Amino acid sequence: MRIEIVNSSVSGQCALKQGAGGGIFPSGIDLIQTRAQMNTDIANAAPAADGSNTRKVYVKTYGCQMNVYDSERMADALSKDGYQTTDNPQDADLLLLNTCHIREKAAEKVYSELGRIRQMKQTLAEQGRELMVGVAGCVAQAEGQEIIRRAPIVDIVIGPQTYHRLPQAIARARKGEKVVETEYAIEDKFEHLPQPDRKVIAKRGVSAFLTVQEGCDKFCTFCVVPYTRGSEVSRSVAQIDTEARMLVAAGVREITLLGQNVNAWHGQGNDGTEWGLGALLRQLSQIDGLERLRYTTSHPRDMDDALIGAHHDLQKLMPYLHLPIQSGSNSVLKAMNRRHTVKDYLDLIGRIRQARPDIALSGDFIVGFPGETDEDFEDTMRLVETVRYAQAFSFKYSPRPGTPGAERDDHIAEDVKSQRLQRLQALLREHQIAFADGCVGQTIDLLLEKPGRDPGQLIGRSPWLQPVIVNANPSQIGDIVKVRITRTGTNSLYADCV
Ligand code: 5AD
Ligand code: SF4
Repeated sequence: MRIEIVNSSVSGQCALKQGAGGGIFPSGIDLIQTRAQMNTDIANAAPAADGSNTRKVYVKTYGCQMNVYDSERMADALSKDGYQTTDNPQDADLLLLNTCHIREKAAEKVYSELGRIRQMKQTLAEQGRELMVGVAGCVAQAEGQEIIRRAPIVDIVIGPQTYHRLPQAIARARKGEKVVETEYAIEDKFEHLPQPDRKVIAKRGVSAFLTVQEGCDKFCTFCVVPYTRGSEVSRSVAQIDTEARMLVAAGVREITLLGQNVNAWHGQGNDGTEWGLGALLRQLSQIDGLERLRYTTSHPRDMDDALIGAHHDLQKLMPYLHLPIQSGSNSVLKAMNRRHTVKDYLDLIGRIRQARPDIALSGDFIVGFPGETDEDFEDTMRLVETVRYAQAFSFKYSPRPGTPGAERDDHIAEDVKSQRLQRLQALLREHQIAFADGCVGQTIDLLLEKPGRDPGQLIGRSPWLQPVIVNANPSQIGDIVKVRITRTGTNSLYADCV
């Protein structure tokens, strides 16, 4: 599978990033867009609409890295069913939208996308071609049957907990059934999802995602995740370790552990006791050939001493931490049900910086949560000045149906939200630029990931997750090289090999 990150200034550091809209057609732009790509022979599948024996799937991914990972795993499941992926929706026999519901009229965007797909399906039908359409992800989970009612061209609606049932859902849909699979599965989907083969992993690149935890029990009052992804579930150490070793054996050098609430991960360890994320990272750091570890997204309340200790002790754990606070006002934090104060957060940051002085901090902010006063917002600006994030993401509050925040009657006017966001983003940007400027002249380790835009260039990531452009040989992809940062670009750094 090829992962394309199109038009992304955020580079997907946050575990939940919103798609920026755009159409299914190649001109469409999403923050993160994934097209699954597989190569397997047909097993028991009926001939494709183009008369060949190979069926093709086009997967479009909206949102966070967890969706990127899920799209890969769906692709793996379909691969065993004889599907190859295509980059061209016009070639597809199956079109899958892997949707995100985190902010703004997510469902409406999916419905307008489905309107465009209806036209495409009609045109293909006139050419005697059949197109099956599936909607997966958090919008599928939230909307369920309603999707088929409003968009009858959809054949399959499948929620995030049931992806392992996708091949059966397709078989049922082929017989003419409209399939809605949104019940939380009792069985462990990870046990049932097939693993990709080495060639597929290698194609996906030297940096891989590995979901270790799903769901959330925190119930922040603005957030839809506990309703769409369900309650917290952690995978076992054995399962994670096996998957990590398989990735490394196929050439992966960096693994980012994913979870909606990744530092709430607690799984059965190799000694039979329950482990936390710090112990899991220690275990994974022993894998030969695995050079870098990261994890995202974390909640301040779950940052325990063992995890902070891992940042001090583990060379392979990169000095970057995405630790959202959302607001710098205690009363807003309370209304958001974050269950920590500004002081708790700042104390925590102090301990983390003591353990790993070169750590780069990243965060998420919401402006204009219902009831947020000018003074509350100024508190957020002060907090940002105090922490000086290397990188951060900020959003206008968007009422999500079914969440407590949406029910409030003291919503903030749109223009006030916009003004606050503008001021906050200007400040965050200033700090991001200052952090990047501070890197110039430093010699750092760079993991070379892929070719750059110009011939002779490769792009890698700094320990602090910044994209770095350097002149190097494509045979060096996967190597960690010493480079000296020479200057900053708009969202990247330039360097020379030393
Ligand atoms: N409105 C605005 N931003 C939101 N986020 C989550 N829910 C909402 C919402 N309803 C943001 C939070 C979270 C990030 C992934 O998305 O900042 O950390
Ligand atoms: Fe949403 Fe809060 Fe859970 Fe994060 S911790 S996924 S913001 S409910």
